[in-house]
Amino acid sequence: MSKEIHLIDKDFVPYISEEKILSRVKVLSSQIRADYGSNNVLFLSVLNGSFMFTSDLMKSMNGEVELSFIKLSSYEGTSTSGKVHELIGLNQNIQGRHIVILEDIVDTGLTVQRVITMLQMQNPLSIEVCTLLYKPEAFKGDTAPKYFGFKIPNKFVVGYGLDYDQLGRNFNEIYQLKD
Ligand code: IMP
Ligand code: MG
Repeated sequence: MSKEIHLIDKDFVPYISEEKILSRVKVLSSQIRADYGSNNVLFLSVLNGSFMFTSDLMKSMNGEVELSFIKLSSYEGTSTSGKVHELIGLNQNIQGRHIVILEDIVDTGLTVQRVITMLQMQNPLSIEVCTLLYKPEAFKGDTAPKYFGFKIPNKFVVGYGLDYDQLGRNFNEIYQLKD
């Protein structure tokens, strides 16, 4: 049994085991393949948090699947325009492609919504979201992610790619903030 971990000023307790994660990942990959049949699926994995999930999901996929990594960067625009968001890393044509966005976590859903809006401008055939974790209580979007590993309460988690101030991404299971 794994133990509590301490990162910076917070304690975290084991929450979702590696075994449970990997078994959900297998279910997700079968679900995706069943839904897309023999079509080629282009995964767009949103860095940094989803690298571990992406790796395990890719290893579990059958058939034709491609992968690119993307990142949403934000910088301060001019004083009136506020924050400007830019999608970086997408250096291929996605027109007419079946896109599945891979996320580590959908919290308010704002991040993934921004990614979807920017991808839609390039006319893909379809766009769906596959996230390892989904916090329905925090979600402010219109459409819930089609594929999710686990619905979790509105509580901070780390591990398996997810970070607390850049730490904790290396753990092979998911930890939850201790009460
Ligand atoms: P959003 O609120 O759905 O836009 O999520 C924004 C980002 O916040 C996610 O991509 C994560 O990087 C981060 N985030 C949200 N909840 C958690 C959490 O519980 N642990 C670690 N990162 C989180
Ligand atoms: Mg993230």
